[in-house]
Amino acid sequence: MKKIFITTAFAVIISFVFSQNKSFKSGTLWLDNNGKHINAHGGGFLYDKGKYYWFGEHKIEGRKGNTAQVGVHCYSSTDLYNWKDESIALKVSEDTTSDIARGCILERPKVIYNAKTRKYVMWFHLELAGKGYSAARAGVAVSDKVTGPYTFIKSYRPNAGQLPYYNNTVADTEKVNCNTPANKSDGFFCRDIPGGQMARDMTLFVDDDGKAYHIFAAEENFTLDLAELTDDYTAHTGKFIRIYAGHQTEAPALFKHNGKYYMIGSGCTGWDPNPARWFVADSIWGDWKYMGNPCKGPGLEITYGGQSTYVLPVAGKKNAFIFIADKWEPKNAIDGRYFWLPVILDNDTVSIDWKEEWDLSFFKKQK
Ligand code: GAL
Repeated sequence: MKKIFITTAFAVIISFVFSQNKSFKSGTLWLDNNGKHINAHGGGFLYDKGKYYWFGEHKIEGRKGNTAQVGVHCYSSTDLYNWKDESIALKVSEDTTSDIARGCILERPKVIYNAKTRKYVMWFHLELAGKGYSAARAGVAVSDKVTGPYTFIKSYRPNAGQLPYYNNTVADTEKVNCNTPANKSDGFFCRDIPGGQMARDMTLFVDDDGKAYHIFAAEENFTLDLAELTDDYTAHTGKFIRIYAGHQTEAPALFKHNGKYYMIGSGCTGWDPNPARWFVADSIWGDWKYMGNPCKGPGLEITYGGQSTYVLPVAGKKNAFIFIADKWEPKNAIDGRYFWLPVILDNDTVSIDWKEEWDLSFFKKQK
């Protein structure tokens, strides 16, 4: 009895000590309610019933941490500064024949909620164990509870047998022609039609009408595909577009503001940072216009040492979006850091500036 009391009292003190964050401190150790650095890399976020949930890659120490040894870690928060460990939402499998066997590569998990099926649906980039980055598959898992446990359903390369959708502004000369592919990227696209398109760095986006989209790096990372998901969010419908074909965009993060669609992404240099890029579109189906680098000030050429993973709309605020990035540490993966920066939206123009420390009152000051 006495022991239980002391343990509980200790846990309360620990959680009190560590629940005192009142600001975002870029790139520093970010401690959860147990005093441990948050372990949710390449993260995705969901706002559900008054709480934010953060899902990300659980990494272990050393280079081995770049492979999935544990699974997808989930945290919850009511204020965005203080995060409670909700444990592992999706576990890697101990069955070596499973697609998500321990030692696979499971990256950039994102979760969305399907109001029709009342299921939480998680998608991620999956590489089969021992096969490097050659599988390039999308994996999907579902759960009745936001924090899991998520049940793995399947993994595959999307949109097999399908050609892209083109809106009526696209000239015939711009359309992919698999009889004579115009360039390397078109060639990869045509090669992959029978088995489905490669699917690596990814995000999900749910529009106001409840339709969900999977945005992923395809064609040996040369092109981003934006693909519609089925009504239950667990498969692709076959309708998709290719965005900025041939220009190697990774780490996509989408958001919508005042009826326009925005996307921030990175270039393609592995764990090394590169300049970010942003896009805007009037319709989800494009045209997606390339708008250059949103970053300002020192470090703009390397996205301040990080890479995008998500743009988080702050619940209940109109013009408040947070750019969320990873600062990778491939030699000791668990030590990867995060930085969150306010997205500055000025006359439909997106920019980002480095901040050592800031809090949500920033958005009140913004016009
Ligand atoms: C990055 C990508 C990461 C990871 C890494 C592996 O470009 O954004 O998610 O896949 O490459 O080198």
